[in-house]
Amino acid sequence: MKNTKSSKNSTHNLIESVLFDHKVILQGIKILAEKLNKKYKNKKHPIIFLGVLKGCLPFMMELIKHLKFDLKIDFMVVSSYFGGVEKRFQKPKLILDVGNDLSDHHIVIIEDIIETGITIQTIKKHLKLKEPKSIKVASLIYKKEMNIDNLEIVPDWYVFEAPMRFLVGFGLDFEEKLRNLDYIGILKGN
Ligand code: IMP
Ligand code: MG
Repeated sequence: MKNTKSSKNSTHNLIESVLFDHKVILQGIKILAEKLNKKYKNKKHPIIFLGVLKGCLPFMMELIKHLKFDLKIDFMVVSSYFGGVEKRFQKPKLILDVGNDLSDHHIVIIEDIIETGITIQTIKKHLKLKEPKSIKVASLIYKKEMNIDNLEIVPDWYVFEAPMRFLVGFGLDFEEKLRNLDYIGILKGN
């Protein structure tokens, strides 16, 4: 294949502005990976990175390639937004549960974004029943303004803090689209 320059530099017409470009995202994820390498390198119990589909995909793929300890990966599907920008305050739905036995595992939940924290709280409650050794949360984005001082909600690690705007790209969707953008931007009109 020829080494031609990427033509992906133009911004999608639904994007108001780019918040984190691709390079910044990759740098941020690498820094997070270094922290996780320090934390998990000498653990005796098995470690599992548990991605919350579908938004976790680009983040998780980028993150795990920098990790230097043995780990398993698994996924669960949880839906909370029903695609659009308007949040309905109803219980997030568990659509697909984890396949692995999680007892005595260190779990690291991989989320795309934490806003109200309702989704992550529901997931943690569900996972605690599986008697893991520990449960931690790594989120790509944290909308800190929503933090209501509930330690169950604050992620143990996050890459970026973001304002209370509707974000898309690098896994984040608007009506199931725009997940493939290699940057994170603010959706127009929100
Ligand atoms: P929470 O339950 O309010 O913390 O919302 C978490 C879930 O809502 C995330 O896992 C996303 O799927 C979705 N979400 C929250 N904010 C955004 C956003 O700005 N863009 C796209 N999805 C979002
Ligand atoms: Mg999500």
